[in-house]
Amino acid sequence: MRLPLVALLSLLPLAAHAEEPWGKVDLQAAKALHDKACLSCHVRMYGGDGSKMYTRDGRMLSNRLELLQRVAACNAQVNSGWFPEEEGAVAAWLNQHYYHFDK
Ligand code: HEC
Repeated sequence: MRLPLVALLSLLPLAAHAEEPWGKVDLQAAKALHDKACLSCHVRMYGGDGSKMYTRDGRMLSNRLELLQRVAACNAQVNSGWFPEEEGAVAAWLNQHYYHFDK
């Protein structure tokens, strides 16, 4: 069976999306969001700049989905009113700086 070209083309954005689950995100804005809503509590627990939360031994996360879920869970505690895209952007920023999950 031959698929019409237009059907094939419509699959392309999906493929690109699968490769980068968070899509194109504004990492600069994500850092600002993170620092505003997330830092103080982690700093209170771990001191310094709070990043030990993400680098500590026995940290809880092992893939992107868990990272995204954790960001959403913490975000729910602070009622920051972020959109899902903003949660995604912060998760992507954390991944780029601390977690480096490729799946
Ligand atoms: C009210 C305090 C508090 C705030 C505010 C908070 N967190 Fe957390 N966060 C925690 C606690 C507590 C843990 C660790 C839970 C544990 O160890 O079981 C945690 C853990 C995490 C982890 C997982 C760390 C690991 O083990 O790898 C991530 C990621 C995270 N927070 C992201 C965020 C983000 C993003 C925000 C801002 C939306 C945020 N947190 C705001 C309390 C907070």
